[in-house]
Amino acid sequence: MSLVVANWKMNPQSAAEAKEIYSGTRRAAIKYKKVTTVVCPPAIYLQEFSRLKSKGVYLGAQNVFYEESGSYTGEISPYQVAGFGATHVIVGHSERRALGETDEVVNKKVLALHGAKLTAIICIGEAARDANGDYFALIRQELKTALKNVSKKNLLKNVVIAYEPIWAIGKSDADAIKGSDMHEMSLFIRKVLMEIYKDKKIFSVPILYGGSVTPANAEEIYLGGEVDGFLVGRASLSVPDFAAIIKIVHDAKRA
Ligand code: PGA
Repeated sequence: MSLVVANWKMNPQSAAEAKEIYSGTRRAAIKYKKVTTVVCPPAIYLQEFSRLKSKGVYLGAQNVFYEESGSYTGEISPYQVAGFGATHVIVGHSERRALGETDEVVNKKVLALHGAKLTAIICIGEAARDANGDYFALIRQELKTALKNVSKKNLLKNVVIAYEPIWAIGKSDADAIKGSDMHEMSLFIRKVLMEIYKDKKIFSVPILYGGSVTPANAEEIYLGGEVDGFLVGRASLSVPDFAAIIKIVHDAKRA
């Protein structure tokens, strides 16, 4: 099953706008049933959205803390977001890593999410590419640390890998990855999963691409990149653009 995830980041500014975008997204998602759509709004909107009928759309959070409860001012626990209907949580986004989230913290969050029976959307990606291909070593390291002590069962049921090269985030649609480069990366990610789990079942773990996905580049990356879907930032705040991306994934025919 293909998967398209909306990462609204710290947008929009008002609850009224948020509700409008969410309702429009839900209407689009219901039309394209072959695609699983997940909306990750700022956590303050989760309660309201979980009250609206969530048919056709799953809810996600953009971050959680790794403890269940306690004296952690400003943090939100996996159980709290689960209580408001979230089924997925983004972890290790490069914008959070830039604020100090390490691979070890990402791993703690993944384990905590699994404790609460939530799916972890684990973001990995290099800041820049070098001619020697050193970035592959960084991707391997990010994956291995994030998945430390994650059981095969949880990997297969509750993990999504989102490859988001930092150089492609927040740019124009022409700056996103090319399908052929994404294909190479998808193969590499599967190779590393195979190194860790030594089981062909790892092929069912969804791999997403994120970074300046728009309706203009989605088909080429989806088909050429052998990805299972997308993690979409800015374009997910425009209902027509996000609906177009879901439709592209829904209609795309792999050879
Ligand atoms: P973008 O963001 O689609 O706006 O580039 C993607 C992301 O950071 O998840």
